[in-house]
Amino acid sequence: RTLARYVDALPVPPKAAPTRQWPLPDEHGQRIPHYRVSMNEAEVQVHRDMKPTRMWTYDGSHPGPTFDTVSGQAISVEWVNNLPSEHFLPVDYTVCGMKPGAQSVRNIVHVHGGRTPAASDGYPEDWYPPGESKTAHYPNGQEATTLWYHDHAMGVSRLNHYAGMMGAFLIRDEVEAALGLPNGDQEIPLIICDRYFSPEGQLYYPTSGIPGHPWISEFRGNAIMINGKLYPYLEVEPRKYRFRVVNGSNQRFLRLALGGKRPFHQIGSDQGLLSAPVPMTEILLAPAERADLVVDFADWSHQTFTLTNDGHAVMQLRVGGKTHRDRSQMPSTLRPVPRIPEAQAVRTRHLTLNDYMRPTGDSMLMLLNGTRWYAEPTEDPELGSVEIWNLINLTEDTHPIHLHLVRFQILDRRPIDMYLYENHKKLRYVGPSQGPAANEVGWKDVVQAHPGSVTRIIVPFDGYPGRYVWHCHIWEHAANEMMRPYIVRPPAA
Ligand code: C2O
Ligand code: CU
Repeated sequence: RTLARYVDALPVPPKAAPTRQWPLPDEHGQRIPHYRVSMNEAEVQVHRDMKPTRMWTYDGSHPGPTFDTVSGQAISVEWVNNLPSEHFLPVDYTVCGMKPGAQSVRNIVHVHGGRTPAASDGYPEDWYPPGESKTAHYPNGQEATTLWYHDHAMGVSRLNHYAGMMGAFLIRDEVEAALGLPNGDQEIPLIICDRYFSPEGQLYYPTSGIPGHPWISEFRGNAIMINGKLYPYLEVEPRKYRFRVVNGSNQRFLRLALGGKRPFHQIGSDQGLLSAPVPMTEILLAPAERADLVVDFADWSHQTFTLTNDGHAVMQLRVGGKTHRDRSQMPSTLRPVPRIPEAQAVRTRHLTLNDYMRPTGDSMLMLLNGTRWYAEPTEDPELGSVEIWNLINLTEDTHPIHLHLVRFQILDRRPIDMYLYENHKKLRYVGPSQGPAANEVGWKDVVQAHPGSVTRIIVPFDGYPGRYVWHCHIWEHAANEMMRPYIVRPPAA
């Protein structure tokens, strides 16, 4: 049965609204807006002709409410766990952090890309069960950017995330405001993720078939959801729009284009504005990567075309006739992104990405630097220092590697002799080094580490001391166990 296409309008997620201001100002004399968001199960209408789909949401919607915040203005959020007591997706009690009989419904929110103190960052083991709540403090001391929030609970984040637990978290500042970019109705978050729908219209999450060990390493859905709808349409005016695109898939890389390779510009990457708009006709986004895009529909009035992923239509765009004057701008320069000189790094770490067969031979283990989650932290940069991390990918796949707390820059990628490294721990390059693509020459918090290559990133460890995590953002990999704690050490006195 094929679904009717383009019968649902693209929804724009609701905006989160503060419930109150803290009565006492913070140390900067500001009152802190306080939000209360409930995690709950909801029936979501993902398509006109489908029965509602059971999802797990923030405040009953997928995506959850959009946080629209201002740089330097702290907020606090009480995240209330009102989920049911049993999980509806196949929990694996053998993966890291789980054990037979363990609490299956467990949740903790992480604001991805946030410069957040450790206690509020959503450390995977800080999860709590239904009936409890936790208040997190987000100082938002960072430049304007497109962040997002999602679940991060140990052992089940892939399932919670798959069930729908994510939303946009925008930070704005004056530099960005002065640019006059499209805003208001012309600024739209697009949270895109693939899901596998059963014939009954319910979320289906496949299992390995191994009794007692349902975890799977690879997974692709059969449908692409955009802001919670399948094959939506969007009516636009013939003027500029700004799209904040988030790849919210567990595993799928998105390759997005506008019907017939129409041009658009990327103005921002994960952690904020690029130095100048980059003209593009296609964009590849790994899970958790974001792109801030400007599309100018001015020349396309009365045209209808599609947004495609890997060449397949996923949303329809209907451009109307002229109605309002477009006063928005897309300046030819945006915000300087000074390249960090390599000489500033006080340390270079070599960190491998590996996969192993478990000794039992029935399943995989995927690791960062050959080290399991519960081993003592080995990466311990000092607060305020700069390090270079060489991600040596000895697997067959691209892994989107994410560090909490920080933003970084991509230095280069270079292919290596994998056999020599695996067997003799010798690094021999077998090709030239490749600088980052034009749309990667900005601030990032996720990097695509390609197979058989060393991907080098340079990272200023600014923010707060404490225990954070870094991991592959393919959730199935992070669960088993491509995730490690790392420590930001307070500066030596
Ligand atoms: Cu998107 Cu550990 O996060
Ligand atoms: Cu991975």
